[in-house]
Amino acid sequence: MRLKLGLTGSDCVNSVKIIGVGSYLPKRIVTNSDLSKIVDTSDEWISSRTGIKERRITEGENTSSLAAKAALNAIKTAGINPLEIDQIIVATTSPDSFTPSTACLVQAIIGADNATCFDIGAACSGFIYGLTVGTQFIKTGMAKTVLVIGAEVLSKILDWEDRSTCVLFGDGAGAAILRKSETNGILSIFTSSDGNGADSLKCPTVSVKNPFVSKIDEKRSVISMNGKEVFRFAVKAMPIGIDKVLKDSSCTIDDIKYIVPHQANMRIIEYVAKKFGIDNDKFFINLDKYGNTSSATIPIALDEMSKKGLLNNGDKIILVGFGGGLTSGAMLIQWLI
Ligand code: ACO
Repeated sequence: MRLKLGLTGSDCVNSVKIIGVGSYLPKRIVTNSDLSKIVDTSDEWISSRTGIKERRITEGENTSSLAAKAALNAIKTAGINPLEIDQIIVATTSPDSFTPSTACLVQAIIGADNATCFDIGAACSGFIYGLTVGTQFIKTGMAKTVLVIGAEVLSKILDWEDRSTCVLFGDGAGAAILRKSETNGILSIFTSSDGNGADSLKCPTVSVKNPFVSKIDEKRSVISMNGKEVFRFAVKAMPIGIDKVLKDSSCTIDDIKYIVPHQANMRIIEYVAKKFGIDNDKFFINLDKYGNTSSATIPIALDEMSKKGLLNNGDKIILVGFGGGLTSGAMLIQWLI
């Protein structure tokens, strides 16, 4: 064990940009018809209510492994050495363990020995929250290079007998590398939370059990959701987030090449598109292939867009998400890769 120099702050306000993205998805594809053999459902119900056709499910690999593979892909795109990374932030709802953090496990796998590492929990908004935290560390001079990962193995916290939730989610990971820059790539950020909505989407940890508890409240660590309430929250939160980051950066929706939404449900995205009077095409969508991978949906989408050549230097895009907590967030980014 050795003690290293940690992060220290200063008064500077640096510019920040994304210099690389990467993702990793388990190989196993589970289609809607595969699920209809496990629970009473159908491709027709799932496709028409959500837009999801298939998802990836791990056959044993845990969150830190997915996260590390996504991170290594992002490191390769960015063309940096893992030792240059000052900070690793993993946004996850499905960590390998209470402790150590998934970020520390990733650090050991990828050999980012100089990084300070921690996880954050903001459910499906987690990646935007992670980018927000990383950006602040670079702005203040406490870090120069930050690896932000959204990674989930949701399949381990799903109730595989509950058709109303198990059909919605998938496993996967995505990552981005933020770096101090001459030109500013993070043009505006908005985050918001409402703990009063905590019950509408939740997954408890373990029950409080010790020799001094007289009545144990047994809880199962599985996701439960009031779908209608989450839908109502999402269609309010997403337009608020988009509006805020547009106003904050003096942009209009016409300045934006793509909106990269949290991939939960096609009907939510269509609702938001209608509200802004824009085509669905302005939204990058891949939920048909991967389902809802929570904190990983946005970085997986960014990596896919980048690989498909959809993003050019100078393009402005909006990332926007919502999730358990309840949480929501948006970010207006100028692509500078
Ligand atoms: N297959 C077949 N039938 C089903 C299934 C299924 N997989 N799931 C539920 N049903 C049935 C219900 O049992 C119910 O039957 P009943 O009328 O006989 O009681 C019927 O379908 C309607 O159920 P609802 O829950 O009312 O379905 P709804 O139309 O609200 O659609 C959905 C559910 C898709 C989840 C919707 O509420 C929604 O879009 N919510 C948004 C939230 C969301 O997308 N969450 C995803 C994760 S959260 C996040 O990412 C932050």
